[in-house]
Amino acid sequence: MRTIDLRSDTVTLPTPAMREAVYNAELGDDVFGEDPTVNRFEQMAAERIGKQASLLVASGTMANLVCILTHCARGEEVILGDRSHTFLYESGGMSALGGIHPHTISNQPDGTMRLEDIEAAIRGPNVHFPRTRLICLENTHNRCYGSALPPEYIDAVAALAKEHGLSVHLDGARIFNAAVALGVDAKELTRSVDSVSFCLSKGLSAPVGSVVCGTSEFIAEARRSRKVLGGGMRQAGIIAAAGITALEEMVDRLAEDHKNARRLAKGIAAIGGLSIDPERVQTDIVYFELAGNRLTADELVTELGKKGIKILRVGPSRFRAVTHYGISAEDIDLTVKALGEVMKMA
Ligand SMILES: Cc1ncc(COP(=O)(O)O)c(C=O)c1O
Repeated sequence: MRTIDLRSDTVTLPTPAMREAVYNAELGDDVFGEDPTVNRFEQMAAERIGKQASLLVASGTMANLVCILTHCARGEEVILGDRSHTFLYESGGMSALGGIHPHTISNQPDGTMRLEDIEAAIRGPNVHFPRTRLICLENTHNRCYGSALPPEYIDAVAALAKEHGLSVHLDGARIFNAAVALGVDAKELTRSVDSVSFCLSKGLSAPVGSVVCGTSEFIAEARRSRKVLGGGMRQAGIIAAAGITALEEMVDRLAEDHKNARRLAKGIAAIGGLSIDPERVQTDIVYFELAGNRLTADELVTELGKKGIKILRVGPSRFRAVTHYGISAEDIDLTVKALGEVMKMA
């Protein structure tokens, strides 16, 4: 039985073209700056994001941590959303390793934070307070329905930050999903922020790796932060080669994942006992809920699993399904059919 794995876009396997690129990659020692494939990739990534320079790192978590450590000193404060990935799921790295203080404010359902809430959270010059240094945004916003933050909102936050002498970091793990969903160039989403991270190993299907982008000066410092974390890699062209293919071949096709996500959401909306607002689905992430207590969330996941379909339970009655390169429209139809059968059993 074929498995339809909708738990995350991180389950994607490298494409045949990526495997070929990895096999043929020209390599060197990247800690000496001598891996030609890494150098080519970092230049390409910086250009795509519209920044002067970039740095290949091992993961999205490391990318965000490298940026926060580069922006902030010990005892300084970061304003970020209470549903942001960095706050919820990155093991408290900023405080554990950097002595940096997270100051959370509410994420709205669309992944934004209200400008007035951000402004109210910025500390004044009082000896009792930590110093505010950085604001973090997330685009697309994983826990907020995979919503895409528009360029105007990002520019408004950046303008507010500038007014107060702060920097802005954008966790753009799925920045290309946001760009494709909004029909804009990724550069429009990054033009006003100081640093950006994005992932190769999610919807872009590369096997490993993330990227940090910023000014040349920022990236030189970020290289030092990466080294502190043990993230200096040697023949990393193995990773960068798949990253080059990801940027060249896997960005435009994200539209197909978004189409499949909407197809799934519409299918779920027609199944009794499940609740979803299909209008919320803008990118590859679909959240839905059990509307009654005919069966438990664990039972639903187990029964679906018996039919070869994997989804993630993310709350007492809440689920997440993510479309990606390994999922076809036919897989979506099979999933909707299976969900309908499971709900009928209840
Ligand atoms: C928005 C966001 N940021 C960062 C990460 C972390 O990426 P990684 O799993 O590569 O550490 C994720 C992972 O799902 C994510 O969704």
